[in-house]
Amino acid sequence: AIERTLSIIKPDAVAKNVIGQITSRFEAAGLKVVAAKLVQLSRAEAEQFYGVHRARPFFKDLVDFMLSGPVMIQVLEGEDAIAKNRDLMGATDPKKAAPGTIRADFADSIDANAVHGSDAPETAAAEVAFFFAGLNVYSR
Ligand code: CMP
Repeated sequence: AIERTLSIIKPDAVAKNVIGQITSRFEAAGLKVVAAKLVQLSRAEAEQFYGVHRARPFFKDLVDFMLSGPVMIQVLEGEDAIAKNRDLMGATDPKKAAPGTIRADFADSIDANAVHGSDAPETAAAEVAFFFAGLNVYSR
């Protein structure tokens, strides 16, 4: 089915100047960018976005990292977009990510892991709505 998923190109990848290289991989896989913005998150936004991880030991480091520079937030649309994006990203820990995946090629550590992608249809809908008003998502 045609799905939408939320992608975040994290501060490490923005700093490495690979927004375009990462976005090209989405496009080459048939995913379309239907919304996008480059933003510096506030602490409140990062804490709310990652709220499910609030009790985890890595929460503070994760939030601090996400505030370390601007992030490129995109909505990707296409056939099986959620799973397709997760395949393109590779495993959360770049040491475990398959060769040729975004994290294998661009990530440095489990925190500085280049990209975030929604993990399921329910989280995708919530994450897209968290960052984009409906009228700013241009289905195509
Ligand atoms: P992301 O997909 O953005 O979702 C939560 C993030 O927490 C994850 O990518 C990692 O960057 C970060 N993180 C740090 N440590 C861990 C861990 N042990 N397990 C899962 N995620 C972690």
